[in-house]
Amino acid sequence: MCGIVGYVGSGEASEFLIDGLRRLEYRGYDSAGIAVYENGKIQIEKKKGGLANLEAVLKEHPLHGHIGIGHTRWATHGKPSDVNAHPHGDCHNHFVIVHNGIIENYMTLKKELIEKGHVFKSETDTEVVAHLAEELDDGNFLSTVRKVLAKIEGSYSLVFMDDSDPDTIICTKKDNPLIIGLGKGENFIASDIPAVINRTRQIYIMNDYELAVVKKDSITFYDHDDKEITKEIHEVTWSAEAAEKGGYPHFMLKEIYEQPKAIHDTVQIYLNKDGSVNFKDLGWTEDCFDDIDHILITACGTAYHAGLVAKHYIERFVRIPVSVEIASEYRYSNPLTTSKTLCIVVSQSGETIDTLAALKEAKRLGAKSLAVTNSISSSIARESDNVIYTMAGPEIAVASTKAYTTQLVALLLLALYMGQLRKTVKPELVKEITDALKDLPKQIEKVLKENDYMAEVAERLIKAHDIFYLGRSIDYAIAMEGALKLKEVSYIHAEAYAAGELKHGTLALITEDTPVIAVATQDNVSSKMYSNIEEVRARGAEVLGIGYEDDAEIGKYTTETVRIPRVDPFIAPILSVIPMQLLAYYTSIKRGNNVDKPRNLAKSVTVE
Ligand code: F6R
Repeated sequence: MCGIVGYVGSGEASEFLIDGLRRLEYRGYDSAGIAVYENGKIQIEKKKGGLANLEAVLKEHPLHGHIGIGHTRWATHGKPSDVNAHPHGDCHNHFVIVHNGIIENYMTLKKELIEKGHVFKSETDTEVVAHLAEELDDGNFLSTVRKVLAKIEGSYSLVFMDDSDPDTIICTKKDNPLIIGLGKGENFIASDIPAVINRTRQIYIMNDYELAVVKKDSITFYDHDDKEITKEIHEVTWSAEAAEKGGYPHFMLKEIYEQPKAIHDTVQIYLNKDGSVNFKDLGWTEDCFDDIDHILITACGTAYHAGLVAKHYIERFVRIPVSVEIASEYRYSNPLTTSKTLCIVVSQSGETIDTLAALKEAKRLGAKSLAVTNSISSSIARESDNVIYTMAGPEIAVASTKAYTTQLVALLLLALYMGQLRKTVKPELVKEITDALKDLPKQIEKVLKENDYMAEVAERLIKAHDIFYLGRSIDYAIAMEGALKLKEVSYIHAEAYAAGELKHGTLALITEDTPVIAVATQDNVSSKMYSNIEEVRARGAEVLGIGYEDDAEIGKYTTETVRIPRVDPFIAPILSVIPMQLLAYYTSIKRGNNVDKPRNLAKSVTVE
């Protein structure tokens, strides 16, 4: 949600800035801009729309210099436009800044500044920060920035340039991510690792309220109390290629195809040789659960859908009641969380502000906490008592695919682990499921062979206005993910329904013009599911079934069926979602959409 970059060194700043913004475009693509110190002044170029528009401007008016900042925007305050694009400067572009987040008290500050004679150009909350710096300028860049930070409220990653200190960038953050990449004779600032990965593997991860003074040969860190601190360097283990398309036309397709590896990597780090599960870093023992009478899972979007599946896993293997809450709802729901609650938060980015806020609320109410995330040292990872990492590698496409399936795997392993500790699951069953998980990458490869078939089905769906996704039990949770995937990239309305619930009202919407996707992998409810398929067929709907390759029944009810290998019913969801991911992908591209960057969306949602 807004990507920011900064460069200071001896190289051409705009080269890194543009390359970094390209790698961060998944965070927003309403506008892009850069500011570079050139010929004694900070020069800004910015443009509405994707980065390509800015690049066209820079072709005409290149910016040359060795220090600069850049931004790719997901609009919050002020519509997407050239003037609302970042960077923003004060009246004289003396201070120039980029910002990710929301300055909540900007209205009050803006009014005061206008009264003092400041002239604002944009409708953004951000511009106020640049004017505030001009107003509070005491001739010392660092102390001016500190004075600004003392006045603003809200969430931010902020990067400042000052034309009277042209060798220095100052950056800070609160509730939004920021990293600094350490180079040789150059340093890099970014919202996320993919921006710097082809320049350096050594990064600093900024904590809330920390401030960094970045020069080409030095980085000085200060804590909240303005005390100089030393910070640990993290080595990034991803390969630079992991953040590239690697021959695929889109990141989404590449990431769908990366699922066998991502799942293999996630499974193998948490297994013992004997097939039992090992999350030894959690330091949990059997007694840890004596005090837990409720497990709360909270997350947003796709991660919330993973939580819905995990409820089935945990209740089955751990025998503790689980509630799954949308993070943005949980926080304001006067929740019944207590010190006997274990709160599990699920987040690919580890930075989603709603999830972070829900986690903080659960902790405030006394809950113990555990994060399942894909992002090492992210805000959510740091805020939680314990962390389990998924090994999906960087996920760049806005629509989540491999992060979701690795979340399912990690949550299944976690449920088995808790069951192992509590002795609520037999070791033989654990072994049976973990053996099946080891085999899962191969099974996924088989399902990926349905690629062309899904492209063909997509062709038939592109004109649909509404598509229903049906399932029972775990398949209902998976259907929710299938529907979300289709909506967000194809822009076709899709709705997931518990198949048995349809007849209580929504069946009225089913006609020959509403295609239905029916997931049927849960044997205990399959006959009921077939009846529900018949109900929609009787109203004229065409039904694409998703069922096991050896299920001789399902084909009798559906119009057509995509097959998945026969696996344990707890693992089947991880296979059945794959045809739905492919279907969403192909429907999107056949409708001419930008599948990696769907309209109005951005990855890593750091505003409430
Ligand atoms: C949909 C999607 C979103 C995210 C949601 C939470 O494809 O990606 O629904 O799942 O914004 O993001 P994280 O997992 O980063 O907290």
